[in-house]
Amino acid sequence: MPGPFDLDDARAYRDWRDRKLSSCPAQIEVVELRNPKNLTAAERGALLESCARTNMAIYRSPITQEDKDIPRLLGLQLGLEHLDGNYLADDDGISSITPGAGARGEFIPYTDRAIGWHTDGYYNPRSRRIRAMLLHCVRDALEGGESALLDHQIAYVLLRDEDPEHVRALSAPDALTIPPRLEGETVARPAETGPVFSLEGPRGPLHMRYTARGVNIEWKDDAATRAARDALDRILARSACVLRLRLEPGMGVVCNNVLHARTAFRDAPAHRRLLYRARYYDRVAARVTLKTAAQ
Ligand SMILES: [Fe+2]
Repeated sequence: MPGPFDLDDARAYRDWRDRKLSSCPAQIEVVELRNPKNLTAAERGALLESCARTNMAIYRSPITQEDKDIPRLLGLQLGLEHLDGNYLADDDGISSITPGAGARGEFIPYTDRAIGWHTDGYYNPRSRRIRAMLLHCVRDALEGGESALLDHQIAYVLLRDEDPEHVRALSAPDALTIPPRLEGETVARPAETGPVFSLEGPRGPLHMRYTARGVNIEWKDDAATRAARDALDRILARSACVLRLRLEPGMGVVCNNVLHARTAFRDAPAHRRLLYRARYYDRVAARVTLKTAAQ
């Protein structure tokens, strides 16, 4: 179907691309929220507008207590209601990302180590695709823990401008395989094979499934895929469109599952870094399709 994501539709691509690049480099204005649990119409409009333009919004609020209703109610006001039931998430589907012991300590998000570039849920089956993600900071680290974010549509543009074959290779249905996760003899999650870039509908929106993780990942073994991965590595390392920021208490990110990464950090037992993370099957609402009026 012709449209900006059709490699044969140069005109539609050019128009869309020019609009996208006008929001790059990512000089995002931080949206000030008086109370994320109860947005004003203007606050909500600013968050939605930022997400419509750049697939992400950064907010700051004076609310710094531990309260999972903050991400839950904020998400609901932006059209995000269907939470992914990650098996490590707490019962309510919102994960407390903090250095921890036990099973969670085996997974990098629950440590103080750096997390490489990825989109959330790259190991999920298509039926549980993560379309939006919200991170809310309760406590920051003593040092480090900086976030990096890149609109995945900008990554698509930069790849396609370098060589449309990069996009073709990463759109192949067998581009990226995540091997099964085993617990003893049992398959806890089957292998998941799929494209990096795919479309939700005939003309979009664009979804991206990616991890820079080097181990336990099987990439399609051909020259085109290797060239595309190398190009993406360069973009993620050097692009001026990458937004880098450090979330402070009360701050957060809401996004359409854009590419993101985290640097290592240092905290202390009496002052553990704590972020709430909510993953959704929904995308952030478009302003035109809002079902409910702003509160
Ligand atoms: Fe993530």
